[in-house]
Amino acid sequence: ELYRELSGIVAKEQQLAQQFGIRRVVIVSGDVEKDSTVKQQLGKEAAQIMLEIAQGKDKIAVTGGSSVASLKEYLVPNTVLSEVEFLAARGGMGDEMTFQANTIVAKFAKKTGATYRTLFLPEHLSAQAYEAMKHEPIIKEMITLYEQVNIVVHGIGAAHEMAQRRNSSQLEQQALDEKGAVSEAFGYYFNEQGDIVHHIRTIGIQLEQVNKARHVVAIAAGHNKATAIQAYFKNAAAQSILITDEQTANAILSK
Ligand code: F6P
Repeated sequence: ELYRELSGIVAKEQQLAQQFGIRRVVIVSGDVEKDSTVKQQLGKEAAQIMLEIAQGKDKIAVTGGSSVASLKEYLVPNTVLSEVEFLAARGGMGDEMTFQANTIVAKFAKKTGATYRTLFLPEHLSAQAYEAMKHEPIIKEMITLYEQVNIVVHGIGAAHEMAQRRNSSQLEQQALDEKGAVSEAFGYYFNEQGDIVHHIRTIGIQLEQVNKARHVVAIAAGHNKATAIQAYFKNAAAQSILITDEQTANAILSK
């Protein structure tokens, strides 16, 4: 803690929280792009925060991505966490298996003794499939659960990278560029002003539901994500907590 004070990290956390108008920022020292242990540190901090904020029977929606996945090593059985339910935040399977929300919630539940709910759907649904799906009992149940979410744990990506990772077509990627998409979180793409410019058509938690949650925890670091993080937080919920690294924080603060 003394190191964090002396190195100015604590001041930067406060500065960034103030700039974004959010509850809290936690900065891990180092650079996630140069040192792979930094990602572990992000996970460790996130696990610690989850422990602090979770209450009995909370429903915790969890997105995919490597940053969120990094929490799993640090979750331990605990009286509070064993009572929660982890929900895959979206049905989409656009990520590699280990980084899919479905895989992650199963791991989190195993580590903590909690329960979990998955949703296996294609990343992109046609308008007809989407409408039909919404009436399926299993899906309806999941949509009801999203209404009750108390905590959201999510990643943030650079729009371009995420579109590529999800195998979006050339045409879709071009459309995102034209709309000025720079940031992505839980299936929503945002422009530099933090406005939604696109939403992937799949079943998942809606932004209004994220905004209603008691806590929203974002884990995102990397120099290439600085613009994406900044854009996302233009309109993000005030009850947000961001966990990032020093390099990324510096990049944002020096803009
Ligand atoms: O695909 C799930 C997701 O959480 C995206 O919403 C986000 O942009 C991305 O993963 C972040 O992934 P990573 O933490 O691996 O950079």
